[in-house]
Amino acid sequence: MENIERIPTHVAIIMDGNGRWAKSLGKERYEGHIEGVDSVRECIKAARRNGVKYLTLYAFSTENWGRPVEEVNALMELFCKSVMAETDQLVEQGVRVVMIGRRDRFSDKVRSHLEKIESATAAGEHLTLVLAFDYSSREEITTAVKSLANRVASGEIAVEDICEQSISQSLYTADIPDPDFIIRTSGECRLSNFLLWQASYAEMYFPTTMWPEFKQEEFDKALEVYASRERRYGKL
Ligand code: IPE
Ligand code: IPE
Ligand code: MG
Repeated sequence: MENIERIPTHVAIIMDGNGRWAKSLGKERYEGHIEGVDSVRECIKAARRNGVKYLTLYAFSTENWGRPVEEVNALMELFCKSVMAETDQLVEQGVRVVMIGRRDRFSDKVRSHLEKIESATAAGEHLTLVLAFDYSSREEITTAVKSLANRVASGEIAVEDICEQSISQSLYTADIPDPDFIIRTSGECRLSNFLLWQASYAEMYFPTTMWPEFKQEEFDKALEVYASRERRYGKL
């Protein structure tokens, strides 16, 4: 049976394989990240064209700070450059950008670019682009638990008020529906600390394509895979 709602409302992508793609062509890992920005551009267009309402992209995990400092700096610099180069286009396409993750560990420059793209695109109505940047799902859940505990301690809510909904509402993704479809490129089959709570009933897809080669056609193909899935949610 084909999926009744053929187009997922929310697609989330773990963009993986930039380094391996570059190395396989005798290039530096950094060149894979640069080509990866083009894939981001392509997938935004494809998402919008297909009527996807939310596109979450895992751009930098909390664990990625553990990479060599040159690579981390290059990724941060690439982020700032991309914000400057892409903001006008995103506004034109009606794309609203929001960021999920910690914000306290970025340099002032990165933080100001983040704020800039969020405020410049705030009125976008066609697609919400959620950037997971310095994101860790366990850290997100821990922060949510702390905030709920504080609200109980201050008497604002009772222990009985803690429910799935109040937990969801305490996450970075409070106003964002759960992902229907999670794609991880490069053939790795793991979530790497991505949307662990939100993914409870997401369909998953692990194409072997490296992220720098994941363009509009691959995105469309992924949506066909989604459309062929039957979602049962534990029922028959
Ligand atoms: C994904 O590609 C981009 C980030 C994690 C920032 P990788 O950099 O992980 O590339 P591989 O997986 O090493 O090939
Ligand atoms: C996951 O990719 C994080 C992002 C895509 C931003 P990694 O390449 O960092 O994950 P592992 O180390 O293979 O699990
Ligand atoms: Mg990787």
